[in-house]
Amino acid sequence: MMHSYCKQNYFRTRPTWIVCSLLVFWNNPASGSEPVYEWQDPITNEKVMCQQCPPGKFVEQHCTKDRPTQCTECPALHYTQYWNYLERCLYCNNICSNLQVEVQPCNAMHNRVCQCKPGYYLDLSSDFCLPHATCPLGSRVARPGTPHENTKCAECPSGTFSNTSTGKCQPHTNCSEQGLELNIPGNQYHDALCTACKPNRTSGAQDGQEEGSGNLECDQALINRAVYQISSPKKLLHLKRMLEQGSLPKEEQATLLQLQAEIYAYLTSIRNTPMEASVTKSLLRVLQKTQRHRLRKLLQKRFSSNLRN
Ligand SMILES: *[C@@H]1O[C@H](CO)[C@@H](O)[C@H](O)[C@H]1NC(C)=O
Ligand SMILES: *[C@@H]1O[C@H](CO)[C@@H](O)[C@H](O)[C@H]1NC(C)=O
Ligand SMILES: *[C@@H]1O[C@H](CO)[C@@H](O)[C@H](O)[C@H]1NC(C)=O
Repeated sequence: MMHSYCKQNYFRTRPTWIVCSLLVFWNNPASGSEPVYEWQDPITNEKVMCQQCPPGKFVEQHCTKDRPTQCTECPALHYTQYWNYLERCLYCNNICSNLQVEVQPCNAMHNRVCQCKPGYYLDLSSDFCLPHATCPLGSRVARPGTPHENTKCAECPSGTFSNTSTGKCQPHTNCSEQGLELNIPGNQYHDALCTACKPNRTSGAQDGQEEGSGNLECDQALINRAVYQISSPKKLLHLKRMLEQGSLPKEEQATLLQLQAEIYAYLTSIRNTPMEASVTKSLLRVLQKTQRHRLRKLLQKRFSSNLRN
């Protein structure tokens, strides 16, 4: 078996192997005897077979015909990891960075071993310690990061969602279990949205509720739908601009989810305020522009009492 320090790339954080090419040697553990090397005595020009030095030592003096190799312990901060005929030991050249911790100190038989500190992993393409990723919305931590591997994420399984960066998915609320109707089905990013507004029961007389905007639950359900049925970030951004009457959103790159949440919060916050009618008008205008006629008609009917003037 041939060993070379060049091939022993066991410290991937320090790829500098300056003393490589000289150090190829043979190690034959199968023979049971200590490895040897051929050496030419510089004075007599005689060729002799010398014994190599064991790990932790180096060749102080090569052997001669009359005397064996003289091996000496590596000095402090130096090492040899294998049987060798090096004339000096290798310097422990692994220096742990501030993103690393030392997991094995330097000794005569091996270099210092560094490892990325907790919360970091070794990125093989850059050779740097990078922070473990957090899993994006809609996904969970499938395998936590290690010093050698980044976090592994997986999409939320069906029937669950994740709207935070906690790395966990929660099951969708079961609306019927709570005696409510399902208004918007859940997906991997958001929960199922329930409503107490029962379809086909807005005619009022029977359950004492007035039709249209008088029924708060149904208005809320409608607002929810208006927001969640628009699935293009561009259209939602447009909607948000109009609703806010000129004030531009801070995040031009806002995601669909953020926008949905923000617009939803906004529409909800102005419910039953004097602003509601004008906002509703804006919403209707946007829905017209974005050709969401069915939703617009539904909304128009619902808010008809607010839109009379
Ligand atoms: C909600 O709960 C009911 C009653 O426990 C069950 O029959 C139904 O399958 C559940 N729905 C969902 C979507 O899990
Ligand atoms: C996440 O979903 C839960 C359950 O629907 C909700 O209460 C919470 O406000 C949501 N959080 C965000 C940041 O959207
Ligand atoms: C509501 O009314 C529509 C149209 O009249 C009908 O198709 C639907 O089945 C009704 N839904 C319920 C839950 O009664």
